[in-house]
Amino acid sequence: MAEELEYLSGFGAHLSSEAIPGALPRHQNNPLLCPLGLYAEQLSGTSFTSPRHLNQCSWFYRIKPSVTHEPFYPCIPGNKCLISEFNQHTTSATPTQLRWRPAEFSEIPTDFIDGLYTVCGAGSSFLRHGYAIHMYVANKSMEGRAFCNADGDFLIVPQHGKLFITTECGKLYAQPGEIVVIPQGFRFSIDLPDGDSRGYVAEIFGTHFRLPDLGPIGANGLAAPRDFLVPKAWYEDASYPNYTIVQKFGGELFMAKQDFSPFNVVAWHGNYVPYKYDLSKFCPFNTVLFDHADPSINTVLTAPTYKPGVALLDFVIFPPRWLVAENTFRPPYYHRNCMTEFMGLIHGVYEAKQDGFLPGGASLHSCMTPHGPDTKTFEATISRNEVNEPFRIEGTLAFMFESSLIPRVCQWALESPGLDKDYYQCWIGLKSHFSHNKESVDENGTKSSDIPQS
Ligand SMILES: [Fe+2]
Repeated sequence: MAEELEYLSGFGAHLSSEAIPGALPRHQNNPLLCPLGLYAEQLSGTSFTSPRHLNQCSWFYRIKPSVTHEPFYPCIPGNKCLISEFNQHTTSATPTQLRWRPAEFSEIPTDFIDGLYTVCGAGSSFLRHGYAIHMYVANKSMEGRAFCNADGDFLIVPQHGKLFITTECGKLYAQPGEIVVIPQGFRFSIDLPDGDSRGYVAEIFGTHFRLPDLGPIGANGLAAPRDFLVPKAWYEDASYPNYTIVQKFGGELFMAKQDFSPFNVVAWHGNYVPYKYDLSKFCPFNTVLFDHADPSINTVLTAPTYKPGVALLDFVIFPPRWLVAENTFRPPYYHRNCMTEFMGLIHGVYEAKQDGFLPGGASLHSCMTPHGPDTKTFEATISRNEVNEPFRIEGTLAFMFESSLIPRVCQWALESPGLDKDYYQCWIGLKSHFSHNKESVDENGTKSSDIPQS
C-alpha cells in the first residue's frame, strides 16, 4: 500500500494539491470563507522578507487550525540525548578519528522520537546557525502523537527498515536507499512497518537544503529536480482524545494535547514541503582519464552558509559507479580537510575501508584530522595489476555529511560501547615504500634510470 503512494514532483517547485476537488481557494490565499468551511493557515519556512528566489512558505486548508491545543509542557522523561546547543557544557571537543559500530536494536518498545539521539554537532538552534547529526534506533510506530521540530530541517537517511511518514502535506514512504527531508515546523508521524529501524539524521539550523550549483558540468547531472517527490494532500477527519504534539524546541521536548489529528489538511499549495529522493536516481560524474574529482562532485543536497561555496552541511553520496581512471590510485586519496566529515554506510563495503566500517555504523573525521584508505585497501590497490581496467563499484552505498563548522561530540557517543577504540589501527600499519634507488616508470613509460641526471 505504501509503495503505491502517488507523489507530486519537482525540487523547489510551487505545488498545489487537493484531497477533495475544489478545496483550494482560487486566486487568493485567505478568503473570508474558505471552501468546504476549512481554515486557512500559513507555514513560513523563511522570513517574510527573504528574497523571492529564497522565499519558502506554504498555505494549508485544514479542518481545524494547528493552534487548537492545550498549553505546552515539558515532556517527562523527555529525551535527554538530544542536543541543539553545542558548547563546553553539553559536549566535548576531540580531533581524534572516531568510528562507531552499528547500534544494536532494542527489545524495549521505542518510537522515532524516543529512539533519536545526537552524536555531534556545532552551533546553536537558538542562534539559527549550526547543525546536529543524530542517529535513530527504533522498533515501534508513533502512536497517538506527532513530532514537530521547531529547531531545524531533518534530512533522514534510513539504513534499516522502511519509514511510512504522515505529514501535514500527505504521506511519504521511504526505504533504505532513499532519503526524506522534513522541513522545520512540519508536524509528522513515523510508522515502522518492518519493526526494527535504524538510520541517520542531519539537522540544519537556520537554512534549508538546496540543489548544488553545477558549474562547468552544465544544466544536467547529479540529482535532477524532477526526481524529488512531494506527497499529495491527505487528511483524516477523526476525533483523537489526548492526541499529543511533541515539539522539539531548543533541543528539549515539549508536549501539548489536542483532541484531533494534526493531519487534517484537505488542500495545500506552496514551495515549503516535505520531500523524498531515491539515491539510485543520482547521476554521478567523475574523471574519465586520470586522477580524482573531489568528493563534492557527488553532492546531492547542500545547505549553504553566507560564504560562497562554503557549506553549512553537504549531503554527499558514494554510489555504485564506474571507475576508469588510468595510472591512478582509485580509492579516496589521503587527505586533511578544513571541513569536517561524518560518514555513514547504508549497505555494502565502502571503497576506502576493507573492514571495520559497517552498514549502520559511522565515522567522524574532524577539521584537519588526517584520514584515508586503511592499510589493507592501500596495499591491495597498489599490488593489483589490472588497475587500468574499468571497474564497476557495486553493491554499496555510503554517504557523508560534510560541514565547515567543527562539531563537538556528545558524551554518550564518546562513551558508547560501539565506539571502535582501535580505529587508528587501520592506518598504523601503513609502511614506508620509499626507496631512494627504486626504479620508477613515468606516464610515458620512461624508466627513471633512463632519465639523464644533470
Ligand atoms: Fe575525507
